[in-house]
Amino acid sequence: MTLKELATHIAAEFEKHYGRPPRWIVAAPGRVNVIGEHTDYNDGFVLPMAIERYAIMAADPSAASSSFSIYDTHFKETATIDVSGPVGKGQPKWSNYIRGVLAGFQNRGVKIPALDVAFLSTVPLGGGLSSSAALEVCTATLIEAATGRPIDPIEKALLAQKAEHDFAGVPCGIMDQFISALGREGHLLLLDCRTRKTELVPMRDPSVELLVVNTNVKHELGSGEYAKRRAECEDAARILGVKSLRDATPDQLEKAKGRMSDVVYRRARHVIGEIERTTHAAEGIRQSNWPTVGQFMYASHYALRDDYEVSCQELDVVVEIAEDIGYQGGVYGCRMTGGGFGGCCVALVKSDAVEAITKKIAADYKAKTGIEAAIFASRPAAGATIIKG
Ligand code: GLA
Repeated sequence: MTLKELATHIAAEFEKHYGRPPRWIVAAPGRVNVIGEHTDYNDGFVLPMAIERYAIMAADPSAASSSFSIYDTHFKETATIDVSGPVGKGQPKWSNYIRGVLAGFQNRGVKIPALDVAFLSTVPLGGGLSSSAALEVCTATLIEAATGRPIDPIEKALLAQKAEHDFAGVPCGIMDQFISALGREGHLLLLDCRTRKTELVPMRDPSVELLVVNTNVKHELGSGEYAKRRAECEDAARILGVKSLRDATPDQLEKAKGRMSDVVYRRARHVIGEIERTTHAAEGIRQSNWPTVGQFMYASHYALRDDYEVSCQELDVVVEIAEDIGYQGGVYGCRMTGGGFGGCCVALVKSDAVEAITKKIAADYKAKTGIEAAIFASRPAAGATIIKG
């Protein structure tokens, strides 16, 4: 569904459930990271784009003076949050992303309005496409619309990130919430996670597309391993005597190799290399040099697989199939994207070969793993928007 169709759909769902039309409609996209993985919490660069998959909410003032009710139109479940006092964690579990954002606004002195809300997400859940960031940023955008008080998009992204840390218990970096809040149609976002300076990198060449390949697996060890990787990077920085791995060079790392464990060395090698690959890939995109961008994507995958050890068999299978199809078959590059341990790969492909590549990846992946992949192409989409209100 396009965003316009989605807006019409959620308005109808709101009206069916609450018996009146909504006053506001807001949406925030999921994302795919083209390159720059596990660099955001190391003060590095990331290069994500917003995808044409959204969390969308329709809302209207509620008759109940202190309740914020969200009806999930897909799972047919309602979360009711008491907003008369400070909002805390609660049930159902998914409501914590929303609760965290409401609490963030309260901390800024904003009184949360009582609202009836209908909600839908077309971002696959747990697929590594930032469905939770989309939900957080969508909620923040709704509060902006309903209070008539917009906040700076960077502040909004940070507020959403804090919700994820404090209410969902995930020590994520800033990439996902930033791209959902700041994405621009037709552009990737080169984000310097140290200075928070952003640069929009146009990607409008009609001859290429980004394909998202969802392996439809999610290995449970993911969340614990994420925190472990962060700690290993901090260890490496300490041993190297730098504030973060952003400040370390490959030379420095080689010299210090004997002073760290092999695991810590390899984690740092990925991060230091990936920060460099990301700025080079951004340059390649500016010049529409697709073969070069593709090579950096493959290099990123190998480092994530061998040094950072956050890939998994299913992600590796997708990348191997992409390599088999190769440049002749229209694939420039492919890599796992997001936190890892399942979720999605992203492939840079020739537009006129999208159909054939999709068929081939789907068939070979099924043959090798027994699992159906979900594959879609997306143009770089816009960040969070107020559609009505
Ligand atoms: C998850 C986190 C991000 C980032 C990626 C890895 O998506 O939420 O902040 O660290 O993993 O690049």
